[in-house]
Amino acid sequence: MASDARIIISAINEHCKGVFEGLKSLVDVGGGSGTVAKAISNEFQELKCCVFYLPHVVEGLEGSNNLSYVGGDMFKSVPSADAILLKAILHNWSNEKCVKILKKCKEAIPSKENGGKVIIIDIVVDNQKGDDKSYETQLFMDMLMMVVACGKERSEQEWAKLFSDAGFSDYKIIPLLGLRSIIEVYP
Ligand SMILES: C[S@@+](CC[C@H](N)C(=O)[O-])C[C@H]1O[C@@H](n2cnc3c(N)ncnc32)[C@H](O)[C@@H]1O
Repeated sequence: MASDARIIISAINEHCKGVFEGLKSLVDVGGGSGTVAKAISNEFQELKCCVFYLPHVVEGLEGSNNLSYVGGDMFKSVPSADAILLKAILHNWSNEKCVKILKKCKEAIPSKENGGKVIIIDIVVDNQKGDDKSYETQLFMDMLMMVVACGKERSEQEWAKLFSDAGFSDYKIIPLLGLRSIIEVYP
C-alpha cells in the first residue's frame, strides 16, 4: 500500500493539486505509516496533516511541524479537520460499515460553506468507455475485495447511495490514474 501511495501522490501532484488547495487541516484516516500524508504535508507547508490509524501502528512514530500521528478507531470517532482523506478504505467494507465510517467523517468536518469535505480515493466502476480489459480488471478487484475483506468496488450509483445514506448533500468525481478516481464528498 505504501508503494501504491507513492504512485497515487505523484499523480495528484501532477493533475489534481487543487483538491488540497485552501485547506488548513487534513486527517488521513487509515493512513498507514503516513506515506500520503507526508507527501501532502511537504507539498502544502501551511496544511496541518494528521495520520489517524490503529494505535499499535502509530505508537512511537515521529511527526514534523505540520504532520502528526493519532491513534484510534474510525468506527468510534475521527479527529476534526477541514477535510478527511479515505484512500483505499471504503472498498474494504460493506455498505453498512461504509455508512458508519462516513457518518463519523461527517461529524469531524465543517459545513460545505466552510470548506468541509471528505476526499475518497478509490475505484468508480465504469463500463461506459468500452474498454473490456479495464472493466475486467475493475470486476477482478471487486471479487478480490469480496474474498479478502468482505468489501466491494462500487459504481457511481452505488457510491451516490452511500453518500446520501450517510447524510451528505453532493459529490464530485475526478478521474485520477488508471482505474482510480478522487471523489470529493460534501456535507
Ligand atoms: C487498504 S489499507 C489502506 C491504507 C492507506 N490508506 C493507503 O492507501 O496506503 C486500509 C487500512 O485501514 C486500516 N484500518 C482498519 N480498521 C481501522 C479502524 N477501525 N480505524 C482506523 N484504521 C483502520 C487497516 O489497518 C488498513 O491498513
